[in-house]
Amino acid sequence: MAKPKVTVVGAGFVGSTTAQRLVEKEIADVVLIDVVEGLPQGKALDMMESAPVEGFSTAILGTNRYEDTQDSDVIVITAGLARKPGMTRDDLLFKNAEIVGGIVEQCARYSPSAVIITVTNPLDVMTYLAWKKSGFETRRVFGMAGELDSARCAYFIAEALGCKPADVKAMVLGGHGDEMVPVPQHTFVQGRPVTELLPADKIEQINQRTRDGGAEIVKYLKTGSAYYAPSSSAVRMVRAVLGDTREVIPVCAYLTGEYGIRDVYCGVPARLGRSGILEVVELPITEDQRKALHVSAEHVRENCAKISTTQVKP
Ligand code: 2OP
Repeated sequence: MAKPKVTVVGAGFVGSTTAQRLVEKEIADVVLIDVVEGLPQGKALDMMESAPVEGFSTAILGTNRYEDTQDSDVIVITAGLARKPGMTRDDLLFKNAEIVGGIVEQCARYSPSAVIITVTNPLDVMTYLAWKKSGFETRRVFGMAGELDSARCAYFIAEALGCKPADVKAMVLGGHGDEMVPVPQHTFVQGRPVTELLPADKIEQINQRTRDGGAEIVKYLKTGSAYYAPSSSAVRMVRAVLGDTREVIPVCAYLTGEYGIRDVYCGVPARLGRSGILEVVELPITEDQRKALHVSAEHVRENCAKISTTQVKP
């Protein structure tokens, strides 16, 4: 039986680590594409040479030609500039909109039935752009961020409690920016809400560290941003789609009235399956959290408007 095909656009750290996880876990055959000649080819060959040791039988092709991405089941877009210390994700807006816009047109042309998962920052705006440029239904275009933010939050909680990270299921809503909204009452440690296990001030400290999670890594790395946790999160989403697992994962999804928000992409829990987003899950949240979620969504809307005239053709 033919293996599913996933195209990863961008052979930088996020893209190549995503490709590596996908083939090592035998989730799909991968096409790794980048504009830089030789980069995806070299990384793909290096990964294939690890196959006899790692024992995987999936394949990876490195290329600069969009023809090779034809008929992909899922396209993961990681290409674009990464933050430098002191920059916000929004600072990347115009440059990355130019890059992502061109990529999506090519990918949609060669894989008209694919599901697109965006990873490039500023994430929520790039997801909106990918939707507009692809012409796909909104359920087939969504972004990776909530899973990453929730994973960071879960790790910090596990660190504070001294428990296994995998025992913590955190939930972070909102745009992938400084206004993300952690929801501790839906964050569980082996089934118990974290609100019963940690004092409120410690939870707030963890929430703030989660909001600053990307910047904390950028500050350490100086010349790039995080890629291990972002690639893990993207791969979990790809696996949910290809495996039609129907699990609920926090993603950047198009909202049509859920949480009182309409016609904008924002981070919410969604059930993922083979056709993309099967449903957005509406969790009960407090009035303050709802307000914060609206602030975050409006921030995304404003940034989408900024690129609407330049990047998004009608
Ligand atoms: C992060 O939060 C790169 O936005 C990504 O690390």
